[in-house]
Amino acid sequence: MTVERTLVLVKPDGVQRGLVGEVIRRLEFRGLKPVALKLMQIDEGLAGRHYAEHREKPFFPGLVGFVTSSPVVAMVWEAPNAVAMVRAMMGPTNPASAPPGTIRGDFAVDLGMNVIHGSDSPERAAEEVALFFEPSELVDWERTQSRWVVEAAG
Ligand code: RTP
Ligand code: MG
Repeated sequence: MTVERTLVLVKPDGVQRGLVGEVIRRLEFRGLKPVALKLMQIDEGLAGRHYAEHREKPFFPGLVGFVTSSPVVAMVWEAPNAVAMVRAMMGPTNPASAPPGTIRGDFAVDLGMNVIHGSDSPERAAEEVALFFEPSELVDWERTQSRWVVEAAG
């Protein structure tokens, strides 16, 4: 099992609706370890770099407008297979088809306001972590509980 780090954003709708604690609770209870966490306002430049893959899509201007409209909470979480694990906990992009038990399936109904972002590949995760955080903001620490979550965890 590869220990991975993934970028998670509680998007503006999630922050405004008071869902920050709920998202953190789910990731914490699952056993992932936080290594960085901050409330921040995304500007247009960062939004464009973060969603560069969608630059030519018709929904891009609306997506940038939304994600810059109000603060987000940016976090880095670590676990074996963290990228796929967080994507599974989020549910599909469109909350209308997200199963109950997923974050989008439990807290969202609208494609544009789907509460949470999670990196979609380990490569993209590394790029997104570097976009949102300085290396000094990533905290290397030992969660004593981890030895009861991951076998042979250091
Ligand atoms: P995210 O990047 O925000 O975590 O979401 P995702 O990977 O599940 O979905 P992605 O394909 O990367 O799309 C990014 C965000 O753009 C909005 N979207 N709108 N109107 C549309 O067809 C459309 N498609 C995507 C969604 O809000 C999605 O989260
Ligand atoms: Mg995406």
